Amino acid sequence: LAGSIHLDPNFTVGEVNPRLFGSFVEHLGRCVYTGVFEPDHPSADEDGLRTDVLALIRELGVTMVRYPGGNFVSGYRWEDGVGPVEQRPRRLDGAWRTVETNRFGLNEFMRFAAKADVEPMQAVNLGTRGLQEALDLLEYTNHPAGTAFSELRRSHGVDKPHGIRLWCLGNEMDGPWQLGHKSADEYGRLAAVTAKAMRDVDPGLELVACGSSNRSMPTFGAWEATVLEHTYDLVDFISCHAYYEESDGDVDSFLASAADMEAFIDGVVATADHIGAKRRSGKRINLSFDEWNVWYQSRPVNNTDTPDWSVAPRQLEDVYTVTDAVVVGSLLITLLRHCDRVTAACLAQLVNVIAPIMTEPGGPAWRQTIFHPFADAARHGRGQVLRLALDSPVHDTARYGEVPLLHATAVQQEDGTLTVFAVNRDTTKPLELTADLRACNPVAGQVTHTALADPDRHAANTLQHQDRVTPKSVTGTVTDGGRLSALLPPMSWNTLTIP
Ligand code: AHR
Repeated sequence: LAGSIHLDPNFTVGEVNPRLFGSFVEHLGRCVYTGVFEPDHPSADEDGLRTDVLALIRELGVTMVRYPGGNFVSGYRWEDGVGPVEQRPRRLDGAWRTVETNRFGLNEFMRFAAKADVEPMQAVNLGTRGLQEALDLLEYTNHPAGTAFSELRRSHGVDKPHGIRLWCLGNEMDGPWQLGHKSADEYGRLAAVTAKAMRDVDPGLELVACGSSNRSMPTFGAWEATVLEHTYDLVDFISCHAYYEESDGDVDSFLASAADMEAFIDGVVATADHIGAKRRSGKRINLSFDEWNVWYQSRPVNNTDTPDWSVAPRQLEDVYTVTDAVVVGSLLITLLRHCDRVTAACLAQLVNVIAPIMTEPGGPAWRQTIFHPFADAARHGRGQVLRLALDSPVHDTARYGEVPLLHATAVQQEDGTLTVFAVNRDTTKPLELTADLRACNPVAGQVTHTALADPDRHAANTLQHQDRVTPKSVTGTVTDGGRLSALLPPMSWNTLTIP
């Protein structure tokens, strides 16, 4: 197999917003409790945060974290999670059918965000609650002093306001599973009045309206249009959520999941721009892809329908394979290729729950396979995304028809360093990649090339074998006369850094 790319630094898609490398911490399963927060753990710091997990989060390169949900937020009372710990109530969490102790809440999360060096993305409950509670929360987080909620915060030991800038107006309100699920008109109206009132208090806020929970929702497209008719002038983003899994052993379709993500992005951009055009608006609504990942929703272990009502049970603890990591890499390529409109995104989630980082209570923390493509992209995917002319062999897939076997993007950093991210979707054959980089003036010689691949496509990292799967150096990748040649292993995620 052979494929080629051709690029020129004068032809760019746009600049990567660092918020593209966000993630998500929800009160779900063991994401918070025994994930990021475990006061009894040997590595816990004075705030009860696991320092082994914090170190992995920094290594992962996460820039922003969405909190506290997810489905959880639609039944959440933020007041339960602030103030003296011993007075915080235990509550039923109807979304995940567990008991929430509220030992961890807003101020603990903000301490976590500071230590992990991430921007907070705060969601408000527009399921069981509404405008007033959103305003109360905003007053608590962002108002300096002298009012009931700002003084309440100060009485909780937080003198300076948190100054949270980025807010989600609810979560997946189009989904019948959502507490307080609404029609597009009901939600659009509530989101509009909430956005208006929040902006009146703090004009610097950036607001995300809920888009569709996935592209197969029956209301996809119509939902975004109606919601934006209500909110166009009041919000900055519309959200997208998408999860992918391999079904019936159809690995080729699974490896082509990015085709769905691509169509999703194109569809939402078209819908948002249609509403903008009708309004003759000069404003552009961007996309916040604030939940995306591989998630094996159909596995019985992930079935949360049976009430459990325990505290922080093991839920959604998918163990990721090499195949899953290649798909995650391909989804990252798609987000980068659309960086002109997707200006925020969150890998869902961060720890234990469909996550790149796993932990054992009282035990170690380790990297899942999907950790590696994310870390590569977050580290090297900074700067300008270049437009690619791509030539690739194709193959047929049951779900997406004909797709190219080579999926790639290229990002140029300010110092001129060029990184090509490439996925070979062929499960058995290597792919010879050539790249015409003459317009970029690359330094002739060796190129740093790592690949995540394995003869066993089901290989995974587990408690027993924590580093079974890691990216390996590929030798023999060179540039000569401005042309790069590389061999991409079968079914692989590749990072090629060219000085
Ligand atoms: O990330 C897991 C869940 O997926 C979130 O709570 C919800 O928003 C989505 O359906």
